[in-house]
Amino acid sequence: MDVISIRDFDKKWIESILSSAKKMEGKRLDKHSCKIVATLFFEPSTRTNMSFQSAANRLGARAIALYGEMSSQKKGESLVDTISVVSGYADVLVIRHPLEGSARLAADISKVPVVNAGDGGNQHPTQTLIDLYTIQKLKGRLSGLKVCLLGDLKYARAMRSLLYGLSMFGAETKLIAPKGLEMNRDIIKESKEKFDAKIEESGKMDFSGCDVLYICRIQKERFADPYEAEKLQKEFRVDEKLLENTKDDLAILHPLPKIDEISNAVSRLKQAKYFEQAHNGIPVRMAVLDAVLSDEVG
Ligand code: NCD
Repeated sequence: MDVISIRDFDKKWIESILSSAKKMEGKRLDKHSCKIVATLFFEPSTRTNMSFQSAANRLGARAIALYGEMSSQKKGESLVDTISVVSGYADVLVIRHPLEGSARLAADISKVPVVNAGDGGNQHPTQTLIDLYTIQKLKGRLSGLKVCLLGDLKYARAMRSLLYGLSMFGAETKLIAPKGLEMNRDIIKESKEKFDAKIEESGKMDFSGCDVLYICRIQKERFADPYEAEKLQKEFRVDEKLLENTKDDLAILHPLPKIDEISNAVSRLKQAKYFEQAHNGIPVRMAVLDAVLSDEVG
């Protein structure tokens, strides 16, 4: 009933979401007209919150929202109490919270299904579904592709979930991170053991041979020392020179928001597909909400 981690799902379920998303493109339905989707955001969001609300509306459901800054959490209410109350107000809760494991906790308490919209540096399953959908749409396949994940691989939940998703679908990955921001060892180990995934780690900004370059920002809010994050952010930038030896049909993706890690010239290239990727959030989140509201998640 819940969508908490990409690790909870098998290929068959993910494929069914991707094919349902394809059917949802451009649609406005009244399938869930008596349903209420609550978005609860205790961390900043533009795309995830708005696209979930838009997706809910396009399914005929109504969206209601709670924002951490304006909630009784500011008065000291616990997350457990907030969830206990709010789960009586809606048919599904979409939650983003800075604590790792918070979505799982919310699901244990809630009377209605919970969708994880990001729990700290841990998981962001619906972003991964959007990313897999986008790559498949651009490249016609996932299996056998060479995907480079570049950026803060330590704290970015989008990257953690995506490595697992790509491995499940047979893509090869190259991980490039600034020193100290490497991917969690357990996720690499699990992806290799479960899916026999080919995962290469490198410290060199070399994207030759890659079909997809997926970049993410330095996750400054998760650093103990924000100056350390700023220092790393300054040193880390993809410009046209770095793309000189890359494939002509390289697709450049990013979960957004981007800060300084991509030059404006790169953003103007036809290979930059991140705004298209963000728009894919609508059909994919429609598919996820439809599955959850139809009680088909297994
Ligand atoms: C990502 C997130 O919140 O994890 N954003 C998003 O949902 N599109 C990536 C990020 O904040 O860097």
